[in-house]
Amino acid sequence: MKLNSANINVMVKACRKASKTVIRDFGEIENLQVSLKGPGDFVTNCDKKVEKILIDELLKARPSYSILSEEIGEINNDDSFKWIIDPIDGTSNFLHGIPHFAISIGLEHNKEIVCGIIYDPIKDEMFTAEKGNGSYLNNQRMRVSSRSKLENCIIFTGGPKRNSKDRDLALKEYNKFSLKVLTPIRKLGSAALDMAYIAAGRCDGLWQRNLNYWDIAAGIILIKEAGGFVTDFNGNDAYIEKKTILATNSRINKEMIEVLK
Ligand code: IPD
Ligand code: CA
Ligand code: CA
Repeated sequence: MKLNSANINVMVKACRKASKTVIRDFGEIENLQVSLKGPGDFVTNCDKKVEKILIDELLKARPSYSILSEEIGEINNDDSFKWIIDPIDGTSNFLHGIPHFAISIGLEHNKEIVCGIIYDPIKDEMFTAEKGNGSYLNNQRMRVSSRSKLENCIIFTGGPKRNSKDRDLALKEYNKFSLKVLTPIRKLGSAALDMAYIAAGRCDGLWQRNLNYWDIAAGIILIKEAGGFVTDFNGNDAYIEKKTILATNSRINKEMIEVLK
């Protein structure tokens, strides 16, 4: 059993509160008003309501921290701490009544993610991590898988988004990957949960283009603290700026880089 730090407690409390709205709205999906933000990228009233609850709770507990959140953008306060929020990751699943989506909050300190939480309200799975203190699923320690052969792995990816300029590139990578190795590839529709599942050892790797910081912020620390790697497609650190993410257990990173070349 682990002891939560004060910041993790704040994040857990905010997630639990917001998840009541998520669960209620998921139950009445047909009543949700849907507005089109852009092709393939829907925003629901629920996203906005959930974002407001999260931000209100986080600011109440930590008034000086800054915020970057998917729907409202930046709130700049004078502090070296910043919450990075995706109120619902997996909105398309949510809209179609598919119970696979999550609330994701990362905490950045001096440009480094130091805490993360990904909460799946339907399965009541709370994934948390803090720098130096390990990764946990509902308070049980998590570790990445130890599978070392790609043929025995399951790999996640997502996209490409319809309007993405990298669409052709992403499709080529998918084809290349499928042709080179016989590893099963899954697209489950929530990058945050993909990363949480790598940290939990359920799957072994993820590659994807064009993910935003709020999609991956919490996942980064969950995977690192569970013993995994997060890099760009070449094994380098600039994955946030480049928006090309390769996240793996500690065994298959090199092989994945080779396959994606
Ligand atoms: C999306 C999901 C999806 C990924 C997209 C993201 P959203 O986030 O993480 O798995 O493929 O690139 O935009 O829109 O559901 O928050
Ligand atoms: Ca997202
Ligand atoms: Ca979202």
